[in-house]
Amino acid sequence: MRRITLINGDGIGPEISDAVVKIITASGADISWDIQTAGADVIEKEGTPLPERVLNSIKENKVALKAPVTTPIGKGFRSVNVQLRKSLDLYGNLRPCKNLPNVKTKFENVDIVVVRENTEDLYAGIERQIDDDTAESIKLITRNASERICKFAFDYALKNGRKEVCVVTKANIMKLSDGLFLDSFRNISKNYPDINKREILVDNLCMQLVQNPSQFDVLVLPNLYGDIVSDLCAGLIGGLGVAQGANIGNDYAVFEPVHGSAPDIKGKNIANPTALLLSAIEMLKYIGQEKSALKIENALLKTFEANLFTRDLGGCLSTTDFTDAVIRNI
Ligand code: NAI
Repeated sequence: MRRITLINGDGIGPEISDAVVKIITASGADISWDIQTAGADVIEKEGTPLPERVLNSIKENKVALKAPVTTPIGKGFRSVNVQLRKSLDLYGNLRPCKNLPNVKTKFENVDIVVVRENTEDLYAGIERQIDDDTAESIKLITRNASERICKFAFDYALKNGRKEVCVVTKANIMKLSDGLFLDSFRNISKNYPDINKREILVDNLCMQLVQNPSQFDVLVLPNLYGDIVSDLCAGLIGGLGVAQGANIGNDYAVFEPVHGSAPDIKGKNIANPTALLLSAIEMLKYIGQEKSALKIENALLKTFEANLFTRDLGGCLSTTDFTDAVIRNI
């Protein structure tokens, strides 16, 4: 039996984790869960939102499924997510965005994979207060991290039969930092003669995405642009409730939805578990349990085809009713 770390998060995390665990169990997947609490709820007891035991569990099991965790804005603790990605060197953030059956969206034929660099850029946390009225954040870009994320994007494209990788920067303005990311892309791209290469500025990309998204295939971006653009892409396919993600490094992988802990709908039994479920499906494929992954994928598509949706997608099902509907379709 494959042991997987489960971080059930806070906010809507526990509700959607329960749903996904039930669905995975119903699929017959050969998994046992190593449940690890993290986030706001453990700070008081353990003094940190990301106790060492969570990292140790992932190091032991190599793979985790993670529900969202709240990061308070302003001073205080560092984001659990940023810390987790840095501590385990999960440098590749993979966010596929594809239309789902009967989910009403502005465009059809959206099938974009956002590959976001996960360890540096303005997320490196290098900030200082110069005086009361001035603060500074450093945008750190290195050739090593830029080349490995571009390689990750091209390897993904090759493995998954994708035709094009497009690099997204603002290298016309940030000539050194974004310029280095672009230069790294150009170097790495030489090793992939069969894949189209494209270069675009992030502002133009955003305009093109909301006018004609189906022209894009795989996008590779530094951390901050990747964060923003992946939420935009989530909006193209029905919103955060259906946007899956994965953080992948050389040794470990953490699968998690794009969305956060949604405190506004916490405890109301209305959260959509689909984004976490799609992330879990990718996790099952990653650990070689394709049969269960396909079973769940088909059941989910069947549920959507029958127009059974949670409220965020215009339906009226609660989290638990939607979960039961997917289980019935397995
Ligand atoms: P959010 O993604 O939690 O919510 C944005 C909007 O989308 C809300 O209206 C929410 O109700 C809705 N939404 C999100 N997920 C949904 C779902 N599964 N079903 C139905 N509706 C859903 O973003 P927000 O409010 O900016 O962040 C809340 C907290 O989550 C913050 O502390 C933030 O730092 C944290 N966060 C954590 C992440 C993680 O753990 N990976 C990622 C993003 C944010």
